[in-house]
Amino acid sequence: MEIKEFLINKFKDIFHRDPVYFAFAPGRTNLIGEHLDYNNCPVFPFAIDLRISACFSCRDDNVIRIVDADGIHGERTFEAVDSVAPYPGGDWGNYPKAAVQGIISDGKIKAPYRGFDAVIYSTVPAAGGMSSSSAFVVLSSLLFSTANGISYPKMELSALTAAAERYVGTQGGGMDQTASINGMAGKVLKIGFFPLSCTPYPVPEGVSFVVADTLIKARKSKEALTYYNSKPIECRLAAAVLRRKLPPYLKKPLTVGFLGDLSPEKTGLTEAEIDRAVFSVLKETGYTYEEIAAVLETDIETVQKEYCLMADGTPLPQPENGFALAARTRHVLTEWRRVEQCAAAMERGDAETVGRLMNESHASCRDNGDFSCPELNALAEIARKAGALGSRMTGAGRGGCTVSLVRNGDVEAFTDRIRSEYYDRYLKETHPEIGEEAKKNAVFTVYPSDGASVFPLSREN
Ligand code: GLA
Repeated sequence: MEIKEFLINKFKDIFHRDPVYFAFAPGRTNLIGEHLDYNNCPVFPFAIDLRISACFSCRDDNVIRIVDADGIHGERTFEAVDSVAPYPGGDWGNYPKAAVQGIISDGKIKAPYRGFDAVIYSTVPAAGGMSSSSAFVVLSSLLFSTANGISYPKMELSALTAAAERYVGTQGGGMDQTASINGMAGKVLKIGFFPLSCTPYPVPEGVSFVVADTLIKARKSKEALTYYNSKPIECRLAAAVLRRKLPPYLKKPLTVGFLGDLSPEKTGLTEAEIDRAVFSVLKETGYTYEEIAAVLETDIETVQKEYCLMADGTPLPQPENGFALAARTRHVLTEWRRVEQCAAAMERGDAETVGRLMNESHASCRDNGDFSCPELNALAEIARKAGALGSRMTGAGRGGCTVSLVRNGDVEAFTDRIRSEYYDRYLKETHPEIGEEAKKNAVFTVYPSDGASVFPLSREN
């Protein structure tokens, strides 16, 4: 049965009436450009054919009731009010709350707000690095805006949902939400920030994107929040140090706000000159809070308050080896250039170069970003040996999935080899606790797909 029919029937069973709308929001895979979005550097993802879908109807009051169709996660009910109090950290109900709060704070609608009844179903693997959470925020934003009679232009909704998701405590950029909203079948999207822009690129002929899940969960809630948020924090600290120290090297006046300001256009320098200047300013060893405060000519408390606060208001603890400002900046600068080179290669239909850049990206995510983990490294390595043109971690990292570029004719043999060498050998040895069931559908082809949409059911049926 199609997901839509399944959800219509579920909705009728649960709410004893007909749903009025069907909506979906896809997950995404990032081809290249990892941990760049929050630095305002371009990224290169695509929306995938795995989605979170909903059937829903508006209500006459301000109550929002969302039921998980497969029964695993239960249901959440809350009211749409000016200030929506979050559930405890890690609760899935915080994703729709984030969307509702984001739209209310945007100010286009006024209380009393209208709620909705919804039944949802997701085919995006949870905590798999494919943005199941952002897809849910995007979906919820469509449901709540529809219930309240407004619709946002795509770019506006992308910016709104990216900001709204911070409600759950992550300090992410806008890649995931923008990809989910603006996806186009058959195209990879080059997304730029400030101003937000989206340019579609065709996929080279004869190749497929194969995703493989390490089965190591890349959760963005609870403890993993600290891991993820430490990355934007380190990048903000690097930008702050460079704001202070870089001006004597620059050929144009520039206040470095983000690492994404370090372009030849803005600095008046060539890429090689940028690198020379940046890495003569930043020391290779980790920085302590004390050292950063000294560079910024302020005290540690001010540094913590301006750059390092987590969602609960506490400052990020200093990492054991200090803040790796040089390594993170190296990742950002090289990855940004790879995104540009990848866009040019995609335009030429040059799949080999795209693959090589993906491999280089993985190495930088591993060595400069510290975003990877042994399982992602092993899986990417096995994928390359199994014939991928390129393979890399995709998404936040420290678990989740790899994406590999594979010639169409090689997909079957490639998939078999990943099964035998990663799941049946490597994972069995390193994680005997992971059961066979989870491994069954852990490697699959993804297709660049259309972005989020909402349809009235009567007209569409
Ligand atoms: C997560 C975040 C994104 C982005 C990626 C890493 O998916 O939500 O904003 O930072 O990690 O590229």
